[in-house]
Amino acid sequence: MARTKIALIGGGMIGGTLAHLISLKEMGDVVIFDIAEGMPQGKALDLCQSGAVEGSDSQLKGTNAYADIEGADVCIVTAGVPRKPGMSRDDLIGINIKVMEQVGAGIKKYAPNAFVVVITNPLDAMVWALQKASGLPRNMVVGMAGVLDSSRFRHFLATELGVSVEDVSAFVLGGHGDEMVPLVRYSTVAGIPLPDVVRMGWMRQERLDEIVDRTRKGGGEIVALLKTGSAYYAPAASALEMVDSYLKDKKRILPCAAYLNGEYGVKGLYVGVPVILGAGGAERIVEIDLNAAERAMFIKSVESVKGLVDACTQIAPQLG
Ligand code: APR
Repeated sequence: MARTKIALIGGGMIGGTLAHLISLKEMGDVVIFDIAEGMPQGKALDLCQSGAVEGSDSQLKGTNAYADIEGADVCIVTAGVPRKPGMSRDDLIGINIKVMEQVGAGIKKYAPNAFVVVITNPLDAMVWALQKASGLPRNMVVGMAGVLDSSRFRHFLATELGVSVEDVSAFVLGGHGDEMVPLVRYSTVAGIPLPDVVRMGWMRQERLDEIVDRTRKGGGEIVALLKTGSAYYAPAASALEMVDSYLKDKKRILPCAAYLNGEYGVKGLYVGVPVILGAGGAERIVEIDLNAAERAMFIKSVESVKGLVDACTQIAPQLG
């Protein structure tokens, strides 16, 4: 049986972390593609040597040639520029849309059967652009944001309550921006919905509101601390949770940026929603019931995604 081939398009901070985690977990062989000369080759060589210590037989190769991603089963896209302090994700659009056009052409030519996870920001617009530029089936192209946003929410909740993060499950919907929608009603501690956790007196409502707000701004908090770029450990781990569900056909229900064709009343956009991920890629969008307040927040978030996609079509009309 052929070994799984995972192509990382972009070998920077997230790309390097992805390569390391894939090797440690022996999820497959890795090709790191980047436009920077020598850097992906150097990272791959370093990681191969760490495999000797870790006991990993994953093979890693760094490259500047798209031909090397040929036949990849999975592509994870982090190519582009990250935020610096003071920037919003949306400020990246002008540069990263051009990058998505190049990456889309490379994937179309060499890995048209791959499952593609996009991480590049602004996420919901970049995954839209990548799908357009590559022409791959919409169910095979998804964006990673919801797993990361939910992991931030889970971490804050577990720390606040003093419980294992394993027992906290959280759902965040909508676009990957400050308008995202942490769904308090559908987030639970050992199965207890958060409104009940508040009613039980375990956490004050004001504290929960602060945690929701911190989750929304979770990426910016890290950018402000790092000063040179944005988060990379949790984004890499989150993308691999999605890839694992695809490769093992686990059918996990994970919040992903998925193409909506009428679901949630949205057509023609990628937005964060719960998705069943399996061998067929994004196999099914799970439409959960939203109350009036949640729906209003969701619509606001969708509007900001729409604004970003409109900006993309102005910069790159051929994608529209
Ligand atoms: N093709 C391939 N690689 C590219 C291209 C391109 N056209 N343009 C830039 N790159 C590479 C850079 O050379 C760099 O190595 O993309 C890599 C990006 O890595 P970092 O700058 O370290 O950024 P990272 O922290 O990995 O974040 C990547 O993910 O979360 C998002 O906002 C983040 O958009 C950013 C992306």
